[in-house]
Amino acid sequence: MNIQSILSDKIKQAMILAGADQSCDALVRQSGKPQFGDYQANGIMAAAKKLGLNPREFAQKVLDNLQLSDIAEKLEIAGPGFINIFLNPTWLATEISAALSHKNLGIQATNKQTVVIDYSSPNVAKEMHVGHLRSTIIGDAVARTLEFLGHNVIRANHVGDWGTQFGMLIAYLEKMQNEHASEMELQDLEAFYREAKKHYDEDEVFAEKARNYVVKLQSGDEYCRAMWKRLVDITMQQNQHNYDRLNVTLTEKDVMGESLYNPMLPSIVEDLKKQGLAVENDGALVVYLDEFKNKDGDPMGVIVQKKDGGFLYTTTDIAAAKYRYETLKANRVLVFSDTRQSQHMQQAWLITRKAGYVPDSFSLEHKNFGMMLGKDGKPFKTRTGGTVKLADLLDEAIERATVLINEKNTNLSNDEKEAVIEAVGIGAVKYADLSKNRTTDYVFDWDNMLSFEGNTAPYMQYAYTRIRSIFNKTNINSTALLAAPLTIKDDKERTLAIKLLQFEEAVQTVGKEGTPHVLCAYLYELAGIFSSFYEHCPILNAEDEAVKLSRLKLALLTEKTLKQGLELLGIKTVEKM
Ligand code: ARG
Repeated sequence: MNIQSILSDKIKQAMILAGADQSCDALVRQSGKPQFGDYQANGIMAAAKKLGLNPREFAQKVLDNLQLSDIAEKLEIAGPGFINIFLNPTWLATEISAALSHKNLGIQATNKQTVVIDYSSPNVAKEMHVGHLRSTIIGDAVARTLEFLGHNVIRANHVGDWGTQFGMLIAYLEKMQNEHASEMELQDLEAFYREAKKHYDEDEVFAEKARNYVVKLQSGDEYCRAMWKRLVDITMQQNQHNYDRLNVTLTEKDVMGESLYNPMLPSIVEDLKKQGLAVENDGALVVYLDEFKNKDGDPMGVIVQKKDGGFLYTTTDIAAAKYRYETLKANRVLVFSDTRQSQHMQQAWLITRKAGYVPDSFSLEHKNFGMMLGKDGKPFKTRTGGTVKLADLLDEAIERATVLINEKNTNLSNDEKEAVIEAVGIGAVKYADLSKNRTTDYVFDWDNMLSFEGNTAPYMQYAYTRIRSIFNKTNINSTALLAAPLTIKDDKERTLAIKLLQFEEAVQTVGKEGTPHVLCAYLYELAGIFSSFYEHCPILNAEDEAVKLSRLKLALLTEKTLKQGLELLGIKTVEKM
């Protein structure tokens, strides 16, 4: 149940009855200060102005037409014409009880869509780097969230598995195999790529063979195809291992690499030419876009086919958009990649639209993200300036979490301890990333992310176990608890109840904007509000049994919300820490 949208709809109806037109918007927001109520409608002034009415008088007319008696206990006109809304505790209590007994905490699917989420998308024969880490964990949180909201989510791992470099990679793989290289040597993808490139640059016979292999691969030669497949498999096995460690939901089934679109490219380029969109320039085929200007202020040219006949990253993305609309029947596509790819995505999609491959209603959204920086404020690198291997980063996370958890005097069994270390170590890396607004760069800092204070994974995981421990101290059965009445009297109870009911607003924002940090901020605030409720309102030592049960219900919904919220972020919880 989304309080904000219920209030928006009802107030809008009243505005229309009071004379406003259909396009009016009540602009309902959560209030920043308690004296302004729980929510406020900010859209009255603009609507009144349009009607030529005094805003406060118009606000009164809106109130006269407004039916909110069950939801609100008080409505008040404030300042130049705001409407402040104070929610009714009885209604809050009913909604909390309903959320507790429904599946999905009462969140129901509305206008179900098919959404393609293009994320992770590493490149074959290359080690995953920190940019892919960001794409992987942010994309996965959004995929989980949209699925939770009832949408049909198609995960598309747009793996870089095609291009001219494969000739050189196949030739090098052949050389390694002839020299009976061990499996181990093949596993080091960075070294493999580097060596292949070195041979290509330095050995003309090798280079000739490599060029020959590209042509053969592209014409479907069986041997080259099999060698190519081997390279893809080695890479994706390693990546799958990373995904599993990261608690990311991607599987082999989600791979939809660049090669998938390759057969579509000749006819797309042919069609762009026929439509007059692509024109020849010095042997290459180019689409000129008025919407983008080059250095001289002229329309920018985007190459869709090179002089030698090769296709480009842009051509593939045009095909991918077309395929996702036509074949996957998607309503919406979200691509999670680096901000530096924004112009590329916008250009590919503009060409897709100009060519008429997708309708206006088909939503193409680049969910871009900034860079991960080291403590020195420069792009995150190893001490020697190399790319940080994801696997090494995760090893370090586990090492650091081991030290941290061992420092704490806990009475955990070895198995429990291991589970805590894993949840905290991996969770810390993920949460540190997810809790930042994705569009800005952020500094990767082990000490901050592993702190038990602040908006971190360990803090959130600990907050969850604290509520669990309340329940471990009682033997109340859950049916009795669900049946018990909930009464909201104390201010702290009220604040907690409202926060709990705002879960859906946070989750829907994540689904719409692709911004998991909104959910992190929500959960962090919820944990803080619960702490202060728990401090002021005794639960197990409450004045009587009815109050105890009532408060336990608030605690139970908090526990479930934290667990569900962290699960949507792909962060594990443990029962004890
Ligand atoms: N493989 C690309 C990279 O490593 C990311 C692909 C993003 N998705 C897309 N449809 N272009 O940078």
